[in-house]
Amino acid sequence: MGLRLGDIAPNFKAKTTAGDIDFYEYLGDGWGILFSHPADYTPVCTTELGKTALLQEEFRKRNVKVLAVSIDPLDKHFSWVKDINETQHCNVDFPIIADEDRNVATLYDMIHPNASETATVRSLFVIGPDKKVKLIITYPASTGRNFHEVLRVVDSLQLTSGYSVATPADWKEGEDVIVALSVNTEDAIKKFPKGVKVVKPYLRYTPQPNK
Ligand code: BEZ
Repeated sequence: MGLRLGDIAPNFKAKTTAGDIDFYEYLGDGWGILFSHPADYTPVCTTELGKTALLQEEFRKRNVKVLAVSIDPLDKHFSWVKDINETQHCNVDFPIIADEDRNVATLYDMIHPNASETATVRSLFVIGPDKKVKLIITYPASTGRNFHEVLRVVDSLQLTSGYSVATPADWKEGEDVIVALSVNTEDAIKKFPKGVKVVKPYLRYTPQPNK
């Protein structure tokens, strides 16, 4: 059985382009994103790691540390990074794990044998400061992920971990949010002084509380 939301993200030690790491030590008290790609020197993966590098400042602002992983060896990661930086006009400065023994891939169930016997699929895990899994997405090799969407989910996760709210479909930072079902309307009016708009008893909006 693979990992599910709310499970503790397994710790591991690994060789990376930033040296040997202990995953938990690397994350510290912050948030983490661990994402696998099928193979180095492949086109979609090149664009994905490039996009992640270009968004590094956005991840840093949110206290999120990013780690990539594939089963390729360290020397291949190092030489491929030069291509990523050249073609995607970026500077990959997050660690890429060389998971040659598939320890990380196995712990996180990143190899889906009916998709590929050997390569990791495009798995992505968001891990909270409590080391619990907050988001899991899995894409096939042929489809590059949307890293703006990953940032959007991180914004929602960080907001909803601190306030009794949820975020509606297509929500973006700054837009109105939904009052959690656990809060009755009378309490919601006290809790959210910016106002509560009741559309239905179960559908109540309030301005983003931390803005
Ligand atoms: C790619 O990144 O383009 C890719 C990787 C593995 C299989 C197919 C495509």
